[in-house]
Amino acid sequence: MGDGSMAKKLYIETVGCQMNVLDSEMVVASLRREGYELAASADQADAILFNTCSVRQHAEDKVYSALGTLKRLKQQRPQCVIGVLGCMAQKDQRQVFERAPYVDLVVGPGQLHRVPELIEAARSEKERQVAVSLDRTSGTLDAIRRSHETFDPLRDPAMRPTPFQAYLRIQIGCDKFCTYCVVPNTRGPEQGRAPGDILAEARVLADQGCREVTLLGQTVNSYRHVDGERVTRLSDLLEAVAQIDGIRRIKFVTSYPLDMTDDLLDAVRSLEKCSPYLHVPLQSGSDEVLRRMKRGYTVAQYDEMMQRIAERLPGAAVASDFIVGFCGETEWDFEQTVEAVRKYRFKNSFIFKYSERPGTKAADRIPDDVPYEVKQRRNRELLALQNAISEEDNQCFIGQTVEVLVEGLSKAARQRKSAGPPVQLTGRTPCDRIVVFEGNERQIGQFLPVVVYEANAHTLFGEVVTGEYCHDGDSVQLTLP
Ligand code: 5AD
Ligand code: SF4
Repeated sequence: MGDGSMAKKLYIETVGCQMNVLDSEMVVASLRREGYELAASADQADAILFNTCSVRQHAEDKVYSALGTLKRLKQQRPQCVIGVLGCMAQKDQRQVFERAPYVDLVVGPGQLHRVPELIEAARSEKERQVAVSLDRTSGTLDAIRRSHETFDPLRDPAMRPTPFQAYLRIQIGCDKFCTYCVVPNTRGPEQGRAPGDILAEARVLADQGCREVTLLGQTVNSYRHVDGERVTRLSDLLEAVAQIDGIRRIKFVTSYPLDMTDDLLDAVRSLEKCSPYLHVPLQSGSDEVLRRMKRGYTVAQYDEMMQRIAERLPGAAVASDFIVGFCGETEWDFEQTVEAVRKYRFKNSFIFKYSERPGTKAADRIPDDVPYEVKQRRNRELLALQNAISEEDNQCFIGQTVEVLVEGLSKAARQRKSAGPPVQLTGRTPCDRIVVFEGNERQIGQFLPVVVYEANAHTLFGEVVTGEYCHDGDSVQLTLP
């Protein structure tokens, strides 16, 4: 990678989901291989990349406003390459240039492997570069599939947020076509990666010191890979990943309710390394709304799934997503959602105000008729209820010992930048609960038993204890030495 002073500098900003975080990691990895180093700010960079999200208007507005601030920079340093990557690039394509004419590069999520080559082309040919995948109606299914390539080059551990944790993609795209969602358009048809590739990557990650892997897919539990007679499901992958030495914790997100099969729940139960944490969005508690969303299930079917989870995986933590103010949502519909949150006591819920997205069925056919103020109020109300439930349930951990994978300094410690020890550390339990406690920087990356003495809706506070422990969900039994 040569002389540090000569290295080209890269600045990248990422918005959106875990898939985008992983995509950015992959892009950074491929550019490092070309001799790039990360820059702390856009001012010093030779290439400035935005990895974007289209799921809600707000996410797009943020990127366009960030791009707006680069106009001057581009005038002063025209040789600097500015790129828009990800879902917004796929959705808006050349329209990005209309709103931000100084952008050089537009690359969809299925074409990210071309970023290094396109940056070079933009620089040498002084011409705009566009690489997007076929949209879902302009070609044979096979051609569309091929135009959405999964991009998973082997990574250097230094490129991950922490060396002991990693996302691992098992699936790209989505075929569910919920009426509100752009993802089936921007990320293309659902395709499962070959099990051999996934396991090879998991082994490399383990060899590099990775202890926790999170398997990623838009509907991760719909994963299926067919090779002749052989069908591989998520439960098979979990079993295979669990056999890899070094990996101690396995999670998977995000699940789709109808595909939460018994074999999967049984695999999670039987595999000690697999966290009993399920992120399985309900989206709405009203059958009418679910039907308009084309979610493909009724509240009764979701309820049946929750019962099976309770039976087969007692102690499991379930998280959900909700959209409030979807087209035609009445006060009664919203009350059904409130009731569902009350009944299921999710570990947490991500709650969003419906945002109409061009190109989706809802945008074409169903009026976005719930006033913004109503969406806002419903959002606030549902969030307040969920927070109260999370806080109550978190209080039950007081006095219990939980297993924490220590991720790093807590937010407060990072801001204070105080020199320890002790320093305030943060980590997560198997079921994704955040735990803050005092410790030593050397403990980052370790699994530690922490006894909880305080809790609010979002965080458990505790103190490290010593001893051997075994776990069942998030509550662990500690055998003192
Ligand atoms: N408006 C608001 N929220 C949305 N989501 C997806 N599309 C939209 C939209 N158009 C939410 C869903 C999904 C999460 C990732 O984002 O709840 O589960
Ligand atoms: Fe979007 Fe529905 Fe697919 Fe999730 S399952 S990515 S909400 S279309």
